[in-house]
Amino acid sequence: MGIEVKHLVKTFDKKVILDDISFKVDDGKILSIVGFSGSGKSTVLKLISGLLEKDSGEIVTTGGDIAMVFQYSALFDSLNVFDNISFALQERKDLRGKYTQKELRRIVAEKLELVGLSGIEEKFPSELSGGMQKRVSFARAIVTEPKIILYDEPTAGLDPISSTLIEDYIVRLKNETHAASIVVTHQMSTIRRTADSVLMLYNGHAVFEGTPEELCREETPYTRQFVEAAIDGPMKMN
Ligand SMILES: Nc1ncnc2c1ncn2[C@@H]1O[C@H](COP(=O)(O)OP(=O)(O)O)[C@@H](O)[C@H]1O
Ligand SMILES: [Mg+2]
Repeated sequence: MGIEVKHLVKTFDKKVILDDISFKVDDGKILSIVGFSGSGKSTVLKLISGLLEKDSGEIVTTGGDIAMVFQYSALFDSLNVFDNISFALQERKDLRGKYTQKELRRIVAEKLELVGLSGIEEKFPSELSGGMQKRVSFARAIVTEPKIILYDEPTAGLDPISSTLIEDYIVRLKNETHAASIVVTHQMSTIRRTADSVLMLYNGHAVFEGTPEELCREETPYTRQFVEAAIDGPMKMN
């Protein structure tokens, strides 16, 4: 299953942001959503995760948890890494008290290992680099064993090497969890390294849908403008 979106429509204050958007992401696959600022990428993620209500259309997802990873790692500064990660389990009413302290230690250690950060449980966010904080936020996102992972610009603001690391962890988490993932990004490197397919939004519509190779190869005015980051083209920045 994964994620299936059919004829999704969303308006804000009578302005149509998403006008009949449809796509599918299978389990174990990554869809990259691209487009200018304001094209509705974050809105798609918020509709899937239930933070926003759609106007019409259908969103069908595999049952189970949906994890959201934001551009800013959004860790609690006053909590150490262990507490930041285990918080995600303890804030859930249905999971509260389910695990002993020892089990929580084991689960957190397991997730930290997955993002290459074993043994940093006692550190505070201020003691970590931006890239490490982001990886801790990944560990926190997967602690509830989500079936769907939504990343909103996970590599924005990172240097190229930190971006590459984060991209590789996105792929690793996909392989480990077999979740269906969506990665919103502006970066070609992130698309190339992570995505199985790409959806480009403009003016409420999907103006391209295909593989990363097709995005680079296809000579449509939209794909060319995006790949070349050209100012001139059919897409106008408002
Ligand atoms: N809660 C909201 N209320 C009103 N307008 C919103 C709201 N959220 C987003 N918008 C508008 O919807 C459009 C798409 O926003 P967004 O999905 O954040 O774009 P993107 O993530 O592609 O940059 C923007 O014009 C934005 O101003
Ligand atoms: Mg956004």
